Amino acid sequence: MVDLSIDCGGLRLANPVMPAAGTFGHELGQAIPLSRLGALVTKTITPGKRLGNPTPRVAEDASGMLNSIGIPSKGAEHFIAEAIPLYAAIGVPLVVSLSADTVPGFADLCRAVSIPGIAAVEVNISCPNIEDDGRAFAMRPETTLRVMEALRAATDLPLWAKLTPNTGEIREVARAAEDGGADALVVANTILAMSVDLASRRPTLGNVMGGLSGPAVKPIILRMAYQCVRSVDIPVIGCGGIATADDALEYMLVGCPAVQVGTATFLHPGAMLDVIDGIERYCEAHGVLSVGEIVGGLREPVISDGAAWEAST
Ligand SMILES: Cc1cc2nc3c(=O)[nH]c(=O)nc-3n(C[C@H](O)[C@H](O)[C@H](O)COP(=O)(O)O)c2cc1C
Repeated sequence: MVDLSIDCGGLRLANPVMPAAGTFGHELGQAIPLSRLGALVTKTITPGKRLGNPTPRVAEDASGMLNSIGIPSKGAEHFIAEAIPLYAAIGVPLVVSLSADTVPGFADLCRAVSIPGIAAVEVNISCPNIEDDGRAFAMRPETTLRVMEALRAATDLPLWAKLTPNTGEIREVARAAEDGGADALVVANTILAMSVDLASRRPTLGNVMGGLSGPAVKPIILRMAYQCVRSVDIPVIGCGGIATADDALEYMLVGCPAVQVGTATFLHPGAMLDVIDGIERYCEAHGVLSVGEIVGGLREPVISDGAAWEAST
């Protein structure tokens, strides 16, 4: 028997596997027992109603998918009244994902959802905000620090910051989120991308650009998770291209105590359960009694030339 439970960002999870925000709804419970997941993470909710982006909102690509959903939302009031009871009945920690386009609006929303039934708040600081010319808060350390300090003051719940891979300063942004009071980081959201339909000569997405996710992004996000693990003292939750237990184990070896699975669930609704079972089998095969033993277990090469190391990172 392997102990799959793990401490992560202020929560004790029964196992390290949870859905990525926006890729899961309670309806998935018709296909798999959601009570087996380590936690549930909701679609990002916003203060008010939002329609979302023009269609088409998703497009398949060679080794992943593009989306420009644009966070359609029924607003916080609807979420609190309708969705929380549905999720709470599942009986695993409920993490609510939030976003807003101003710092005060974000903080108000965070305060409003900090209620019984919510185990932690994941703040999606990877979406455009109107206070910084449409850049995501997490594009820059300064804006990350400012929004995280306001969010920290707004809730006593565990606070997870979801970063964007579209910044060139992932380590500095990670440190700013930690300095601003985050209890964990989620690394990361989708990578800005686009594709073209040759028959129509139009962009495949109605919004022209969108976010790339799925297997194509795994090596990139894994590298970012690795860098973040080495930059902060809070847990880093891996999220990007995880479709199998092997993918999840790579993230755990670089130091992530938990992982989120997104796009893979669209292809295979049971993907998260397969990941849990596969992690357990790996532990059994390697004489690991508790899954925590493999977190950060990467065997790194000894690099004597510091300059070469800096160049490669
Ligand atoms: C259709 C779709 C909708 C998404 N919606 C959200 C969202 O509401 N909030 C959020 O933080 N991330 C959202 N994401 C990003 C995922 O949570 C995740 O960060 C990303 O897809 C990388 O993981 P994956 O490669 O396992 O899919 C969405 C991704 C997809 C594909």
